[in-house]
Amino acid sequence: IKMNIIIVKDSSEGGKKASKLFYDACANGAKVFGLATGSTPVTTYQHLVKSKIDFSKCISINLDEYVGLKPTDEQSYRYYMEKNLFEFKPFKRSYLPQGDAANAEEEVKRYDKVIADNPIDLQLLGIGRNGHIGFNEPGSSFDLTTHKVALTPSTIAANARFFEDEEDVPKYAYSMGIGSIMKSKSIILEAFGDNKADAVAKMIEGPVTEECPASVLQKHSNVTVIVDEAAAANL
Ligand code: GLP
Repeated sequence: IKMNIIIVKDSSEGGKKASKLFYDACANGAKVFGLATGSTPVTTYQHLVKSKIDFSKCISINLDEYVGLKPTDEQSYRYYMEKNLFEFKPFKRSYLPQGDAANAEEEVKRYDKVIADNPIDLQLLGIGRNGHIGFNEPGSSFDLTTHKVALTPSTIAANARFFEDEEDVPKYAYSMGIGSIMKSKSIILEAFGDNKADAVAKMIEGPVTEECPASVLQKHSNVTVIVDEAAAANL
């Protein structure tokens, strides 16, 4: 099985391509969309917002959320999703892990049930510089479902730019597991910029290993990778 690789000029063109794939999936009856946060999918959401796509009968399920943040916290992924997509293109229901849930064990169970009840038709992914997907850091088992993760120093440092102080970056997150991600019928992974080039090469050409979580996608039968020239540089 080969991943379908699309090389684009820049993130704007990449977002346009991805939004077209969402549009086509919708037209073909897809109802459940797995969504991602971070800087990478921003252009995809911009193109979706401008498009005629109608998600009002669809369901969205996000990959992850920081533990400890309220949904109204401006750094929360729920807030990001509201501002980048949901306010303009509402879904029938939009699920994210609840960062301020009282009980972590119950929260991960609740989220696994959400995913089990709503099998994902199309999952959007970004990739961390160390090859992580969602918040599944290197070394996480490919079998995991939703779980609470301790973020690695590299991920905390990479995400510090969104916070006033590196100290403010949460140390834990809830993340959909790789086992759940792999059950999605189709997957789009986007990567833009030269700081992703190494992770992209390992994901596509490296061995399938838990040391590079994204490499598991080599075993999925329907993956489209959208990369700009900088992120494709090591291929
Ligand atoms: C974060 C998110 C991931 C995201 C990755 C890359 O840690 N949990 O879902 O793909 O980092 O982020 P960015 O797109 O900002 O480079």
